[in-house]
Amino acid sequence: MNVLVIGNGGREHAVIKALKKSPKVNKLYAMKGNAGIGADAELVNVDYMDAKAVCDWLDTHTDVEYTVVTPDDPLAMGLVDELEKRGHRAFGPRKNAAIIEASKAFSKNLMKKYGIPTAAYEIFDDAQKALDYIATAPVPLVLKADGLALGKGVLICKTREEAVQGVQEIMLDQKFGSAGNTLVVEEFLEGPEVSVLSFTDGKTIVPMITSCDHKRALDNDQGLNTGGMGTFSPAPFFGEKTAKEVLEKIMLPTVAAMNAEGRPFKGVLYFGLMKTKDGMKVIEYNSRFGDPETQVVLPMLKTDLMEIFQAVTDERLSDVNVEWDTGACVCLVLASGGYPEKYEKGKEITVGELDEGVTLYHAGTAMKDGKLVTSGGRVLGVVAKGETIEDARQKVYENAQKIHFEGMYYRSDIGIKYRNEKRE
Ligand code: AMP
Ligand code: GLY
Repeated sequence: MNVLVIGNGGREHAVIKALKKSPKVNKLYAMKGNAGIGADAELVNVDYMDAKAVCDWLDTHTDVEYTVVTPDDPLAMGLVDELEKRGHRAFGPRKNAAIIEASKAFSKNLMKKYGIPTAAYEIFDDAQKALDYIATAPVPLVLKADGLALGKGVLICKTREEAVQGVQEIMLDQKFGSAGNTLVVEEFLEGPEVSVLSFTDGKTIVPMITSCDHKRALDNDQGLNTGGMGTFSPAPFFGEKTAKEVLEKIMLPTVAAMNAEGRPFKGVLYFGLMKTKDGMKVIEYNSRFGDPETQVVLPMLKTDLMEIFQAVTDERLSDVNVEWDTGACVCLVLASGGYPEKYEKGKEITVGELDEGVTLYHAGTAMKDGKLVTSGGRVLGVVAKGETIEDARQKVYENAQKIHFEGMYYRSDIGIKYRNEKRE
């Protein structure tokens, strides 16, 4: 079968490399992809936010039988709905289910209505009312723009002054555009965080192996929030008891809640969770594979990814036995100097000979005059598996030394955190 994957990043590269291993997959296309993806799939230069253009391309490429929609914005826009209307098979939630990520107000209200544990919150459409609330609310406070904001629409405010400034930025200055028309003000929670991605066909939910992201730019979780500077899998503190709690109190109730709301979710449902003193709580939902979580999760998958995708589409996921490796995996992101703020593009990248078993997932790369150059803030993900996280971590850092571009920087502490947390 020939398959089209929508998206441009390291996550899409990981999906493509996993699909390449499937005996069911013949040829892969990527819309629009990047330089690294170009070595694994045929690149298609069509704007995937233009649903008509995507459908038109598929109509003229009748060899493509299946489309995987990976990023949040085409899902939120309803690309899967449009593809289905035009008779194309696709992986990913429809628009009315993708709202679980696209509107934080929706997801908070869903959790409240169905008793799914999350931080206490208030929702405001009016900046003055938000300011009045903040004047007496306990700090720290968390402010979240309702809509999609490239993972940057969340502000942790230690003081009331910071919260007032935050309301100004999100609601009045519209720093994240219309995503900030509605504001969620949330209780500040503390504890280790874990990403639990899952496959679901709306009936069955199958958790993937766990992973932990590093959102801040600098070591020891200092610096600005980014799209993610590295990941490791599995989360050391996530044992059987926690897995059971998450499945029973969070995952199954979320699938049931979406069905009860007439919004059945089919695709990858991502649970961003925190282990608090009162148990596991939901920090966020995403309607898709995480980036860079996917880069450590999919290399651990033993089952054929294409088989899982098709089973989700056909609502027979309960028939598939999804299996995972027992070891560990680490992804280190190599970023452009200045990211997540201003950075230069077009820097030539040189890659030495990497050790066997080390994979390079491309994110912000392009080909220019026959040379590999940077084209984004997060440029490459160096990924290795090992028997333990420490083992995988060593391989990743050794191999990162063989890659160079002007201004390249990375965190030196990926894979260390939570190693002393109790596993339960
Ligand atoms: P989100 O985009 O919702 O995942 O938020 C980004 C990051 O902000 C999360 O990964 C957490 O580290 C942090 N965060 C979000 N909500 C809270 C909260 N209620 N309490 C503490 N930290 C939070
Ligand atoms: N790594 C967080 C996300 O994909 O949203």
